[in-house]
Amino acid sequence: MNDNAKDLASVLAGTRLIPVLTVPHADAGTALAAALVAGGARCAEVAFRTSEAEQVLKAMAAHGGLAVGAGTVLTPEQAERAVAAGARFVVSPGFDEAVVTKCRELGVPVVPGIATATELMRALRAGVDTVKLFPAEALGGLRILRALAAPFPQARFLPTGGIGADLLADYLAEPTVVAVGGSWMATSAHLERGDYEAIRRLTAEAVERSTP
Ligand code: 3PG
Repeated sequence: MNDNAKDLASVLAGTRLIPVLTVPHADAGTALAAALVAGGARCAEVAFRTSEAEQVLKAMAAHGGLAVGAGTVLTPEQAERAVAAGARFVVSPGFDEAVVTKCRELGVPVVPGIATATELMRALRAGVDTVKLFPAEALGGLRILRALAAPFPQARFLPTGGIGADLLADYLAEPTVVAVGGSWMATSAHLERGDYEAIRRLTAEAVERSTP
């Protein structure tokens, strides 16, 4: 395990479930954090896909009880803003060396996305051995995960993309999978209508399925 992976493991602190959140309302952070914590989540990823993301991340980090990271980080500038807002880790849908370098400067673990062996080789060369397999299900799910893991025994994966409660246990049973990310516990539809009870319930179900 290299330093980036050790830092990530210490932020995740044993949790293997990462709710991925695309939040449309700037004032939703506190209620959302409360629902996730009530459901037993210990970590969350706020996607930088809405202009509200920074404010939401700040509010969620201030709520306590969750290690909050930033997702969909595409540029070094976004990584800086995310960390300033309280992000404890940074996730990207693809591999961009400048984002990795910036996260290293900022002292925050980074999980770049990969979809091919070539991208995985670039990530490993950049000193990153835990990568987001994205979009996991569209790429082939467990079959591509196992196929990519075989030649790279040092690689660890955070599969995300198209995974739901039904597939969670199968992914988590893979020895190379650190954690699974997904939006099914708190979808844009839940967030649009402020359905925090559904978020709490779906999170609790997922936590139960992700705990051995
Ligand atoms: C992400 O950015 O990680 C994904 O959009 C989450 O994937 P999902 O919405 O298919 O769970």
